[in-house]
Amino acid sequence: MQQIQAALTGISSKAVAKEWLKILTLACSFSGLSGAKSPWDLADLALKVQIRWKGHSRYNLQALSVACGISQKRLCLLARTAQFFPPQVRFKQLSISHHIEAMKRDPERASYWLEQASEKQWSSKDIRLAIAGDGDPRKFSWLRCGTFWYFSHCDPRFGIDYPGRIPGQIPANVIHYFTDPGDLVIDLMAGSGSTVDAAKLLERRCLGYDLVSVRPDIQQNDALIGIPSEAWGAKLIFIDPPYGAIAKGFYDNHPHCLSQMNQRDFLNALRTVANNCRKALLTEGYLAILVQNVYGWVGDTVFQVIQQFTDDQWNLVRRIQVPLSNHQISSSVMKWARENRQMVNTDRDLLIFQMSQEH
Ligand SMILES: C[S@@+](CC[C@H](N)C(=O)[O-])C[C@H]1O[C@@H](n2cnc3c(N)ncnc32)[C@H](O)[C@@H]1O
Repeated sequence: MQQIQAALTGISSKAVAKEWLKILTLACSFSGLSGAKSPWDLADLALKVQIRWKGHSRYNLQALSVACGISQKRLCLLARTAQFFPPQVRFKQLSISHHIEAMKRDPERASYWLEQASEKQWSSKDIRLAIAGDGDPRKFSWLRCGTFWYFSHCDPRFGIDYPGRIPGQIPANVIHYFTDPGDLVIDLMAGSGSTVDAAKLLERRCLGYDLVSVRPDIQQNDALIGIPSEAWGAKLIFIDPPYGAIAKGFYDNHPHCLSQMNQRDFLNALRTVANNCRKALLTEGYLAILVQNVYGWVGDTVFQVIQQFTDDQWNLVRRIQVPLSNHQISSSVMKWARENRQMVNTDRDLLIFQMSQEH
């Protein structure tokens, strides 16, 4: 078999082995700490093995992967990159990671993005963000791909100083994923206006309401009473209610302020607000609500909200983890936690519902 293969490639099996040995020697120089070789050398070597040793049962990319301790998947990617960017079109001042990002995210305009990266001194991550953000990596610096959205700080572009203000990066991601430019987004408990600002950046129309308005572009409205007709036809309604005693005293002393309510009244109030949303939401629209467990309340609030909404004919389409960051926990709460042998609850979920079509 080996003889046939060697005959086919026009060299003896001994010569094949010798040639392969050379490759391995070169490959081993990538596995050590010497780091003398550039990643492009490895990429070129991987490509060479892929082409020259295609179909060889013994000498192939898998063997190369074992020799240099780099996964076969990575070697395949490097080979693809080397093929995509022959030496004469590579941007010497940029890393291979820049080239990989450009090739993977926008192969047709890869060179354009590399030119931009070179000119504007972008990192390889900036290329991905710039492609998503029509050329501005900062516009989408908050973008999250999975279902775990952790933000340690509030992006100053979204919202103003306000008790209970959330990182506007949270509504920004919901808006990005669940609406299109021009769609109407509403926030029924808008507080500092984080959603309003995020929607503006993303070119959505937005109306913000709150029991107490602290900005001229947020209108006074009680979500328990209803939603003004100007907000009907919304693609997304965002709600970030105040949770129990955590927020007591921060907001209005109004009896309809959700922060004043015990667990039962709070869940009932959410039911009323969700019912009001039915009128304002487009049939295919989304209701996004931030839910967290409350110390002293019985059971798991997130579970209870899901159950209640499901009973009320809402379908849960997505559940995203959006934990509170350490810096949102005040020193007095931390002290209390230690004294009472309690952990401070930092888990929080964003539940995205759609109206069941059977309703
Ligand atoms: C946690 S804050 C929202 C913070 C906001 N997401 C932000 O980033 O600034 C909750 C808000 O709900 C408002 N609120 C409470 N009960 C309400 C009700 N019945 N109708 C409208 N707003 C209400 C409070 O005034 C408060 O501003």
